[in-house]
Amino acid sequence: MSTESSMTKRLDGKVVLITGGASGLGEITARVFVKHGAKVVIADVQDELGHSLCQELGTEYISYVHCDVTCEPDVEKVVELTVSKHGKLDIMFNNAGIMGDLETRVTETSSENFKRVFDVNVLGAFHGAKHAARIMVPVKRGCILFTASLASKICYGNSHAYKTSKHAVAGLTKSLAVELGEHGIRVNCISPHGIFIPMVQKTFGVFDKKKVEEMIAVSAVLKETFLEPEDFANAALYLASDEAKYVSGVNLAIDGGYSLSNPSWKMGLSILYEQN
Ligand SMILES: NC(=O)c1ccc[n+]([C@@H]2O[C@H](COP(=O)([O-])OP(=O)(O)OC[C@H]3O[C@@H](n4cnc5c(N)ncnc54)[C@H](O)[C@@H]3O)[C@@H](O)[C@H]2O)c1
Repeated sequence: MSTESSMTKRLDGKVVLITGGASGLGEITARVFVKHGAKVVIADVQDELGHSLCQELGTEYISYVHCDVTCEPDVEKVVELTVSKHGKLDIMFNNAGIMGDLETRVTETSSENFKRVFDVNVLGAFHGAKHAARIMVPVKRGCILFTASLASKICYGNSHAYKTSKHAVAGLTKSLAVELGEHGIRVNCISPHGIFIPMVQKTFGVFDKKKVEEMIAVSAVLKETFLEPEDFANAALYLASDEAKYVSGVNLAIDGGYSLSNPSWKMGLSILYEQN
């Protein structure tokens, strides 16, 4: 028996809406969710990529809707389309996000960039949660997921705009988990470390996978393995599935323990021992 055919379908019969599902982590997650029996709708602004993913995976399992998450009527429409097509919405995955410009100094940070990043990462996520809740509250069940980032836990790399926006996503997760728990709705977010996908390659201008893996391996807490996009998708699969039925309000780090440690302690110690 092949593993594929004997695999338990952990999202059998579930209806999932994924924003930012046309590329990167959203796309990988859509693939994994379809494999696990879900009916998936992806909402994105990259129409060509979205449609070609549906052609590849089968339009009976996955469909694409153009939706700019910063525009509330777009989000409202895609939620309504999902429900009219599949009769319900079980899982709303607010994953769309942008890094924005790589401004690291506050004095050089433009308010335009700050606002743009917040519009997509925070307002967009809020729109998704709001319109999913309108469907989920009356039926007293549902699962809302967000993609935050390791930048919601520690300040490393990235711009102030990006880090602050991801802290806001983690805050929104907690705030909603408390309100919506009353209606049987679980709310969680996922915070991955850097994963080598096109958005990261473009932002940092580094296209050599081996080099990036080496860079991450040097600073990693968990050795002998690398973070792959599937690790992110599998975390989303767990949180979306009934296996996580009592898990809510969690910001799940997919970072091999990176956020637990601070390398500056070792740096400080080395100075101490060099001096004595
Ligand atoms: N890749 C990483 O290393 C990493 C690490 C931590 C967090 N994240 C987060 O993961 C999420 C997915 O990003 P990714 O890394 O897969 O990059 P990506 O650029 O491949 O995917 C982001 C998707 O969001 C879509 N999108 C952007 N603006 C949109 C809008 N206004 N409306 C609808 N869709 C929009 C894009 O078209 C794209 O398909 C983001 O929230 C990102 O912040 C990524």
